Order: sequence, then structure tokens, then C-alpha cells
Amino acid sequence: MDPARPATMQEGWQSPLLDALEQQPWLDKAGNYLTELLQPLLDLPEARPIKDFLHGTWLGHSLHPVLTDLPIGFWSGSLLLDLVGAGRSAGVLSAAGSAAAVATAVTGVTDWTVTDGREKRLGLLHGLLNVAGLGLQLASLQARLGRRRLRAVSLSAAGLTVSTAAAWLGGELVFGRGISVNHDAWTAGPEKWTPVLDDSDLVDGAPRKVEVEGRAVLLYREGPRVFAMENACAHAGGPLDEGEARDGVVTCPWHGSQFRLRDGALVRGPSTFSQLRLQARIAKGQVEVRGRQG
Ligand code: FES
Repeated sequence: MDPARPATMQEGWQSPLLDALEQQPWLDKAGNYLTELLQPLLDLPEARPIKDFLHGTWLGHSLHPVLTDLPIGFWSGSLLLDLVGAGRSAGVLSAAGSAAAVATAVTGVTDWTVTDGREKRLGLLHGLLNVAGLGLQLASLQARLGRRRLRAVSLSAAGLTVSTAAAWLGGELVFGRGISVNHDAWTAGPEKWTPVLDDSDLVDGAPRKVEVEGRAVLLYREGPRVFAMENACAHAGGPLDEGEARDGVVTCPWHGSQFRLRDGALVRGPSTFSQLRLQARIAKGQVEVRGRQG
């Protein structure tokens, strides 16, 4: 699935470089191959809680960016210690960085499997550069064990350089493209109670999309009570009204996140955020909603 979305990129000095990188056809081929390899594993019912853990549904935001600090920090410290002549301590930090990089890669691959299009290609490049960086650090560790210090330090510096380039691409994905951020973070209003639908048109247990101030909101009724939440999935903006609704839970049609219709609570990832709720009531035969203020 490659949903059509408005381009979010701004023009800058990096735009031609990113365009050239992202348009490499081999990235699609490699991405498809990797997806085919991983899909049987990802589709196992037992994999669901593991995937949710790796995405960070328990943390309240993505786990991957939290872990990325560890290998970069350990490897930077290792290089610094090498430069001041503390080779043994540098070796310990180098090994710790490589171990942390493996854990970080697992969370990164999990997040990558629920990206699409340009972001998927750029994410793959980010991952491949990180694998190259890790390879150089492991080669440095091997040289260190063989007491070839100059080679070890050179490989360590090269590895850190490659990992830094990979981190720059990771920054572009998060801050430039909005991957792993809450898609509804800036949504607010309407400030006043706003009628959106005749009370009689909202059927019990059947979610219904309405337009409020130019954006889509999902209404849901349970007996006399009505509820409302953003229709754009917090994960990447998928249209929840097009997903399956069953037993009071709606499933996003894009990557399968699930939210409780009553209160928008996150039931299943990959989203790590609940859906933004609006207040809802029935007044004068109309369903009215009011959003987060400011
Ligand atoms: S957009 Fe990805 S799960 Fe909804």
C-alpha cells in the first residue's frame, strides 16, 4: 500500500541529495525482498505483542529513537577514550555500543515495516547505513582484540562517521517527514459546541464520519451516550472510517492500529498514541462536538 499523501518536504540544500537517494530503484527491490522475508514472521499471531513492545505502545511514543542514543553515545565515548590513550576502556564501550546497536536495529526494522513509499526507501537506506556502521565497529573490535590499535581506531572513526550519516537520515524521517510522530498533535477545536449531525442519523454501534471545520471526525454511539474522536489515525493519518469497526474497536485500514471507539484508547499498534478525543453531546436533536481548546 502506497497511500497518496501531500508532500511534506520543504526545499532545502539537502532536497536534491535526498531525491537522488530515494529514487534509487534498487531500494524498492531490496525493500520488497526484505518485506517478503519478514512477512511470515510478522503475520504470526504470537508476534503481535512483541511487535507492539518493539514499536513502543507501552512507552507512549516510539521506542526506536530512545535506543538510538545508546550506540552513538557508546561509540563516541569509545573514540574519545582512544584519543586520550585509554584503549582498554575504549574497547569496553565499543563492545557495549555494538550490543546496543543490535537492539536498536530490531526496533528500527519493526517501525520500518509499517512505512510506505518514499519513507520506506529512505528508511531502508538509513538501516543499511547503520548496518555498515555496525560492521565497521565490529571490525574495529576485532582489530582491537588483535592489538592492532591504529587500525582499530581508524575503523571506529569510520564507523561513527557512517552511523552519523545514518542518524541524519533518521532525523529527516522523524522531523522532516513526521514518521513516528503523533499525526494529530496539532489538531485543536472547534472552540464552541458545533452541531455536526441529526441525532437520528447516528446509529447505535455504527461509527460515522462527519466534517468539522474542514477536518474529519468519527462519531460513535452507545445507547444514550455519544463519543467523538479524530478520524485521521494518530500513526500516519489513515482514514479510520474506512477501517473495520467491531466490538467497540476500530481498526485502521493502513497498518492495523486499533482504537477503542468510546474514548480513542490505543488497543494495538503500530500507533504508539491514542486517538485525540473530542467532547460530544446531543442538544436540540443534533449531535454536537467541541474539541481541545488551542
Ligand atoms: S496510519 Fe498506520 S496504523 Fe493507521
